[in-house]
Amino acid sequence: MSAAPAAAGDAFADWADAVRDRVESALDRALPAADIVPQRLHAAMRYAVLGGGKRVRPLLAFAAGEAVTAPGPAVEAVACAVELIHAYSLVHDDLPCMDDDDLRRGKPTVHIAWDEATAMLVGDSLQSLAFGLVSAPRLGIEPAAQVAIVHQLALASGSRGMAGGQAIDLDSVGVELSVPQLEHMHIHKTGALIRAAVSMATACAGEVGTPVAAALDRYAMAVGLAFQVVDDILDAEASTEALGKTAGKDQAANKPTYVSILGIRPARELAAELHARAITALDTVPGSSRRLRELAGALLARGS
Ligand code: IPE
Ligand code: IPE
Ligand code: MG
Ligand code: MG
Ligand code: MG
Repeated sequence: MSAAPAAAGDAFADWADAVRDRVESALDRALPAADIVPQRLHAAMRYAVLGGGKRVRPLLAFAAGEAVTAPGPAVEAVACAVELIHAYSLVHDDLPCMDDDDLRRGKPTVHIAWDEATAMLVGDSLQSLAFGLVSAPRLGIEPAAQVAIVHQLALASGSRGMAGGQAIDLDSVGVELSVPQLEHMHIHKTGALIRAAVSMATACAGEVGTPVAAALDRYAMAVGLAFQVVDDILDAEASTEALGKTAGKDQAANKPTYVSILGIRPARELAAELHARAITALDTVPGSSRRLRELAGALLARGS
C-alpha cells in the first residue's frame, strides 16, 4: 500500500487519497504554527507529523466510521488523535535509547534533525495534543461516547497498550521469544493503536450494539497483528529507499520478529491467515464494510 497519489479510476485509492488529504489538513490546523513560541518545538512537531506516513490508522478510523455511519467531524478528530499518538510513538521509537534510527518517512529522524531533548518533548506534546482533540468541547457526539473514546485512547497508548508493548520490545532484544510471547508484544506495541482507531470511530456512532462492536474489534485485532507481521517482513525484505526507514534493523538489533522466529514464508502465511480472519469478522457487520475489506487487502499486499 502506497501513500503515492492514486491512478485514475481506482475507487479505493481515490477514497484513501481523499481521507489522507482531509487528515493532512486537519492535522495542519490542529498543530501549533511554527512561528508560535516555542518555535523550535512547534516546528519539530510539525516536521514529525505532516507530509508523510501511510496514515493507516486514520484510514481505518474513516473506514470503520463508514461501516457504522458515524459523524464525519468526530471521526476526523479520532483519526487525527490516533495518528498523533502514532507519530509520537515513532519519534520516541527512533531515539538512540530505543531503536536508534536516523531515517523515518524518508527524512532524518527528529533527534537527528533537531536533538534528543526536542524529540522527547515532541513526543510528549503530540500525546497531549491528541488528548486535546478527543476531549474538545463540541465534538458533536454524546458526552458518554466522548468519554468512552478518551478512555479507549488512554488505555491503548499507555503501559497496557502501545507503551507497554514498546517496553516488552526493548526487554526482548537478544531473547528467543515463543510465538505467543511475540504475539503478545505485537498486539500491544502496534495492535493497540490500530484497535483503538477502529473502536473510537465505532464509538462516534453512539450505540451500535455489542455484536457489531465486537465484530469490528475482532477485525481490528487481526489487522493490527497482521500489520506488525508485515512490518517485520518488510524490515527483512524491502529496501531502505522503499520503506523510507532503515531496512534490516530488526536483525541488526537482534530483535525477535515473526521473520526471525518463523521464517519469511510462514510469516507471510500467518499474515494471510490473519487477513482471512479479519474479513470473516466483517460478515456480521450490517453496514458498508467495503472500505474495511479493501484496506485489509491493501495492508496484506504490502508484505507479499
Ligand atoms: C510503523 O508504522 C511502525 C509500526 C507500528 C509497525 P507505519 O508503517 O504505520 O508507519 P507510517 O505512519 O506509515 O510512517
Ligand atoms: C514500532 O515498531 C512500534 C511503535 C512505534 C509503537 P518498530 O520499531 O518495528 O517500527 P519501525 O520498524 O521502526 O517503524
Ligand atoms: Mg521499535
Ligand atoms: Mg523501530
Ligand atoms: Mg519495524
